[in-house]
Amino acid sequence: MSGFDDDFTPQPERLRHALECLLNEPSELPLTQPWPHDFPEDGRSGDAIIDLLAPKVLGQAVKLGSPIAMAHMDPPTPWLAWAMTQWNARLNQNVLHPATSPVAREIESKVISWLAPSFGMTGGFMTGGATLSNLNALWAAREARGIKRVIASSAAHVSIAKAANILGLPMVKVPVHRTGAMDSSALPRDLSDAALVLTAGTTGTGAIDPLMVDTRAAWIHVDAAWAGPLIFTHYAERLEGIKRADSVAVSAHKLLFQPKDAALVFFRDSEQSLAAISADGAYLADANVGVQGSRGAVAIPLFATLLAWGRRGLKARLEHCMAASESLAAWIAGQRELELLAEPVSGVVVWRIKKDDRSPKQLSFALPETMASQVDIDGETWIRQVAANPLVDVHQVITVIESELERRR
Ligand SMILES: Cc1ncc(COP(=O)(O)O)c(C=O)c1O
Repeated sequence: MSGFDDDFTPQPERLRHALECLLNEPSELPLTQPWPHDFPEDGRSGDAIIDLLAPKVLGQAVKLGSPIAMAHMDPPTPWLAWAMTQWNARLNQNVLHPATSPVAREIESKVISWLAPSFGMTGGFMTGGATLSNLNALWAAREARGIKRVIASSAAHVSIAKAANILGLPMVKVPVHRTGAMDSSALPRDLSDAALVLTAGTTGTGAIDPLMVDTRAAWIHVDAAWAGPLIFTHYAERLEGIKRADSVAVSAHKLLFQPKDAALVFFRDSEQSLAAISADGAYLADANVGVQGSRGAVAIPLFATLLAWGRRGLKARLEHCMAASESLAAWIAGQRELELLAEPVSGVVVWRIKKDDRSPKQLSFALPETMASQVDIDGETWIRQVAANPLVDVHQVITVIESELERRR
């Protein structure tokens, strides 16, 4: 092969074709070709691959922006982030290397400096997901404060247990109230050798642990992967106490509406914390901070989104999602046959059919997969709906639930 390979150069017509597939109502694309089984000996043209993949990759994907999509914590993403993600794919900058990603690094620092102060933090960095943000935070806690154990509620995300395991630290689980919030009266008395992990928005029920809890923990980490962005809304008081933390994790690919893989980890004393989890290597011009080595420029779509929306636009979208969860919860609370677990505090609505001979599992299975998921609470199955979708139409959601209830009567 010569030094010229036009697969690495701009192909405007082909890119336009790929974009048209993206913009078409993807479910209308016909499945025209058999799906490949083996790694082919010879390839095909990029155009042919677009036509092969579009019906399946685009057409058969779950539509997170559908008016009834409420199943998971995964939001639809704004078009500007689609554009920036394409730019990123072409440039392929590696935030690890200052020489090859000067703008990406500058933009990441800017985004961090915009967001960290709202959580009472002085700095941090972006990661590939909140699992990695939590691991980085607890790693810093171990290195900087010598913590010997991790204390978290039994409703904490599994990434906390994974981080404790990786760091070789025992984990103590504190019981929760029925809502999923930590029962702080059950906390061990002496936390002077521990990292206390408080969750702001549990995965199962969206509960917020008591962030103002009086403790002398060696380190407090708030896993605000889900509810963190509410700090920018009129619900901010629900996160009161978050500024007392030593570190905070926030997902950008949840309530900051970003494409995966994007999350943030912030530190109150970022100088000390970043130094504690930095490594120098022979080929590195700058220290490698955190668990990941090479990292993509996920700050660029986030930067563009924050610029396009401003504080007001972000607040409006988040409050719209919260209002959707409140209307749904109010409707459920008003139905004789249904039982609401609790008023939603961070957009997660958990409910079930009042106990009778039929289990709520049956209803959940009959609801569209995009609309609801399930959560196990004290061994019982509840239905969970999550307001991560600014395009949700609660009336449509209610209509679907009503017709399912009708079918069961
Ligand atoms: C509270 C909480 N923490 C951490 C995570 C892990 O985030 P990620 O999937 O981005 O690694 C999640 C994911 O749902 C979560 O809900």
